[in-house]
Amino acid sequence: MSASRRSIAALPDRLISQIAAGEVIERPASVLKEIVENAIDANANAIEVRLEAGGIGRISVNDDGHGIEPDELPLALTRHATSKIRSLQDLESVASMGFRGEALASIASVARLTLISRTSTAEHAWQIEGHNQAVQPAAGSQGTTVDVRGLFDEVPARRKFLKAQATEFGHCMDVMTRIALAHPEVAFKVFHNDKPVRQWPVASLAKRVLDVLGDEFSTNAIALDAAGGPAQIRGFVSRPTAARARADRQFLFVNGRHVRDRTVSHALKAAYADVLHGDRQPAYVLFIDIDPQSVDVNVHPAKHEVRFRDSGAVHRLVQQVVTQALSASVDAGQNTVAPVTGSMPAAHTPTPGMGNWQSAPLQSRLSLNEPRPYESRPGPLPTSNRAWGAGWQAAHTPLTASDGRSATTTPSQALAPEEPVWPLGRALAQVHGIYILSQTQDGLILVDMHAAHERVVYEQLKAALDSHNVATQHLLVPLIVNVTDTEVALVQEHGEALGQMGFEMHAGGPQSVVVRSVPALLARGDIESLTRGVLRDIEEVGVSALLTQQRNQLLATMACHGAVRANRQLSIAEMNALLRQMEQTERADQCNHGRPTWIAWRLADLDRLFMRGQ
Ligand SMILES: Nc1ncnc2c1ncn2[C@@H]1O[C@H](COP(=O)(O)OP(=O)(O)O)[C@@H](O)[C@H]1O
Ligand SMILES: [Mg+2]
Repeated sequence: MSASRRSIAALPDRLISQIAAGEVIERPASVLKEIVENAIDANANAIEVRLEAGGIGRISVNDDGHGIEPDELPLALTRHATSKIRSLQDLESVASMGFRGEALASIASVARLTLISRTSTAEHAWQIEGHNQAVQPAAGSQGTTVDVRGLFDEVPARRKFLKAQATEFGHCMDVMTRIALAHPEVAFKVFHNDKPVRQWPVASLAKRVLDVLGDEFSTNAIALDAAGGPAQIRGFVSRPTAARARADRQFLFVNGRHVRDRTVSHALKAAYADVLHGDRQPAYVLFIDIDPQSVDVNVHPAKHEVRFRDSGAVHRLVQQVVTQALSASVDAGQNTVAPVTGSMPAAHTPTPGMGNWQSAPLQSRLSLNEPRPYESRPGPLPTSNRAWGAGWQAAHTPLTASDGRSATTTPSQALAPEEPVWPLGRALAQVHGIYILSQTQDGLILVDMHAAHERVVYEQLKAALDSHNVATQHLLVPLIVNVTDTEVALVQEHGEALGQMGFEMHAGGPQSVVVRSVPALLARGDIESLTRGVLRDIEEVGVSALLTQQRNQLLATMACHGAVRANRQLSIAEMNALLRQMEQTERADQCNHGRPTWIAWRLADLDRLFMRGQ
């Protein structure tokens, strides 16, 4: 290695800023967060946000706050210069959003920044540019405008990591959502590419929550307000029946700051544990106000986390208050007559917006998407076509010699050559709405019908996509699905790619999409959850993923939603058809979640179990 020693040299200021910027400025949304928080710190009553190209092109924020004196403008752009704290003691009781004095300097080091500001006593506004630092007279009313263009233009290494405009726009809207929830006393307007996209007037907290999160949240929300120990807790939690598949509506604010916190989310989980099924996610907007001395906000440069001095007390308080709120709502609920078309579903009834669940309510408890507790089954376990774990293998003599993949290829000595022999046998019955029992030449097979069908659909989809031949099915009635801004933008951006996958959908409104056709293979499944799943995957891995390895994730999502569900009554013919498809399908012995799709007992093994012939 040619490691000739280099001398130590101090880094130039700009480079230091750029490096430091990496901690706070990750993407347009982080710029937006810092600038809007500054406006809040300046006591603004109204904040107007203008985004272009998802914030990558431009972020401009105007506020009517107290402004900055012209001689302080250069300081505002200087690293570690702040008007918000003066000492370590101040830091211990900091009430403002900012305090590190590095946001504007960081932004100016990775983008073109203009700062225009006017205080109440000034005759006109003044402006400063990030790159030349000269203060000049400018036009403008009281308050401050921060204009940021060309984020990361000169830092290609970081620019590379930005996602599609739609995704970045979505992150920006997430930031606005959080700040708007925390500050109902401030009016907000948001424009994207000059089109108004959001307007939130000054309101009460309840009204702001309704304005921001919509009806679905508000009608199912339970208000709470309680104090205990060092903290006060207020806000809204969702009824368990309105829980969601995604943890996308969980907002926690500690002293007005949006944070993620393990203590609090664990306490919430505990409070919902008895009333919430499986991996359903509660929705909540919670504000914890706590003596600033009892919480450290300076844990993370972007301030996404806090540290409670007495986290045990916070945990107890949250769990107790939320548990009480939930049980009070259940008691109250029993006395109310559920509206006929109402949005408040009874216990175990699928929630509106959760999809077209057509079968019995029991389905929600039998969802085949969750691993079932194989361990708890009584009696000796047969060996599956997949190892269940070394423990079982060691403790039990294998009851079958089936070795997985070989379902379609196992040469069976006992076969009579003249009959058609199906490796997976002939279906006898459907068991508990979940399994197909099949008799093979030399034993029995149990098939998990959802898992198996999922695998079959997956392989069929893959083949169809590979041959650019995805058959589509028009929906008789187009389906309207409520989604997020990001997802609407994704649909607009990627309509063509979605079309190639067999989906025809377009934006129906700022937060809804209209689905007109879906891949024919999936048309019998739950189309709403299918749509959501697909959009979520595209958001996560990008549409380009369709061309790569990652498309398997997307296909798996699609297959899962397209496959038969528990409790769907299958005829013997349908069951046999599935068995035959499985035999033709590669790797049919494992579903896309990695679970086995079938297990086998050989007659000889059964004989041994019953001690026949001994
Ligand atoms: N919108 C604004 N209105 C008034 N003053 C502002 C505004 N934005 C920034 N400032 C001033 O610029 C300083 C630096 O801002 P920033 O870099 O975000 O650091 P911090 O917010 O941590 O102090 C702030 O302390 C504040 O005095
Ligand atoms: Mg700041």
